Amino acid sequence: MPTLVIVGAQWGDEAKGKLVDALGSEAHMVVRYSGGNNAGHTVIAGGKEFKFHLVPAGILHPNVHSILGGGMVICPKGLLEELARTREQQSDLGKLTISSAAHVVFPYHRLLDSLEEEARGANKIGTTSRGIGPAYTDKVARTGIRMGEFVDPEVFPQRLAEVLEVKNKMLAMFGREPLNYDELLAEYTAYADAIRPMVADIEHVVQDAVYSGEKVLFEGAQGTFLDLDSGTYPYVTSSHPTAGGATLGTGIGPRAIDGALGVCKAYTTRVGSGPFPTELLDDVGEWIRQHGKEYGTTTGRGRRCGWLDLVVLRHSARLNSLSGLVVTRLDILSGFEEVKVCTGYKLGDQVLHHVPQSAKDFAAVEPIYQTLPGWQGDLRGCRRLEDLPIEARNYLDLMAEMTGTPVAIVSVGPDREETIIVRRDLIWG
Ligand code: GDP
Ligand code: IMO
Ligand code: MG
Repeated sequence: MPTLVIVGAQWGDEAKGKLVDALGSEAHMVVRYSGGNNAGHTVIAGGKEFKFHLVPAGILHPNVHSILGGGMVICPKGLLEELARTREQQSDLGKLTISSAAHVVFPYHRLLDSLEEEARGANKIGTTSRGIGPAYTDKVARTGIRMGEFVDPEVFPQRLAEVLEVKNKMLAMFGREPLNYDELLAEYTAYADAIRPMVADIEHVVQDAVYSGEKVLFEGAQGTFLDLDSGTYPYVTSSHPTAGGATLGTGIGPRAIDGALGVCKAYTTRVGSGPFPTELLDDVGEWIRQHGKEYGTTTGRGRRCGWLDLVVLRHSARLNSLSGLVVTRLDILSGFEEVKVCTGYKLGDQVLHHVPQSAKDFAAVEPIYQTLPGWQGDLRGCRRLEDLPIEARNYLDLMAEMTGTPVAIVSVGPDREETIIVRRDLIWG
């Protein structure tokens, strides 16, 4: 299985970054395929904590070629700051290439993100205010500026002039001052100069790696239920975090993907608004948030916490053609006498075993729970499945059974080493 998608199976923050880093030493290439710096991927390695928003978590392995795919939207300022910060933490980083097809995020995108959220009032999405939605809107409207145009001094000034004229009209609609063209051009030309050596056409590079049998990891951002089409619309992000996004966002076809590992927490979290049937608004939810330090990597917001939702996970397994589950944060759930998992929903007098498409229905469902014995003790030292308490193993078995997907990896702590490989054959074959 040399090509593997690492996809978030829930609502993001499942520990995709940790997993990509943990598997990265064996990879030839790590490619991010969607989203922008709305993502926050934490890696703890060699006693240091790294926070990645745009840079693939593979960068810490000097022999790995990291790529920002064409499906992404990239804030140049954020990228340069992130690279500088990462280089300060570790000097020997892998090569980084940016797709010339990726779209650029400008200050007007960030401004419009916040203004549109304000205008939504009580219906706000709870975005990360990184300009992600407005940048993808421009891409769909066919007015966005791509990396290839951004780093071409013969093209960029003219493209910026055209786009800024429209954006300033939009800002005026919100009662805001226009942005100054000369200032913006000067600032962003400096970023373009710094970024130019890293920008290239990458589709054939990824294709060559895939077709020559190299080990390639596709690093997902966000999560399945934040997917623009498959998620809890409108409470979603504006890209395709699902495994299918790995083809669209990098330039390969579906048959070039050998496996998809769905990363999921042993419970559920969500940041921002939108339906979340198993959310716990009580002491248990608060305990998980405090004990699990469930605060966003990007915005610092408290994450909403709840029991594991197996209806959500089964849907995710099918949407992403998951070949294996990666269950993370099993250690955090330790200490409960009993734990619950959601196995179905009640909607009025109906019983559902699938995720309703409408956000209104999904917000109205009541979870049907199965209660299981909990487990005790610190799991962080466990390195083999047999080291885990029997109750935790039974929990994992139920996850595999209910999703029809075997557990490939279990994570019992944030460090690279705190990882149990259950099925090596589901990783690199
Ligand atoms: P990502 O966005 O999917 O990469 O996930 P985040 O980095 O936003 O959030 C996952 C958090 O959990 C990070 O702070 C990780 O360091 C931490 N983490 C990862 N795996 C484990 C685990 O198995 N146990 C615990 N306790 N923390 C973990
Ligand atoms: P990682 O990669 C968790 C959520 C936001 C909001 C919605 C739309 O770290 O898992 P956006 O700024 O994308 O327009 O916001 O999506 N969101 C995330 N939640 N993890 C993420 O990324 C997220 N990226 C976006 O909170 O609800
Ligand atoms: Mg995150």
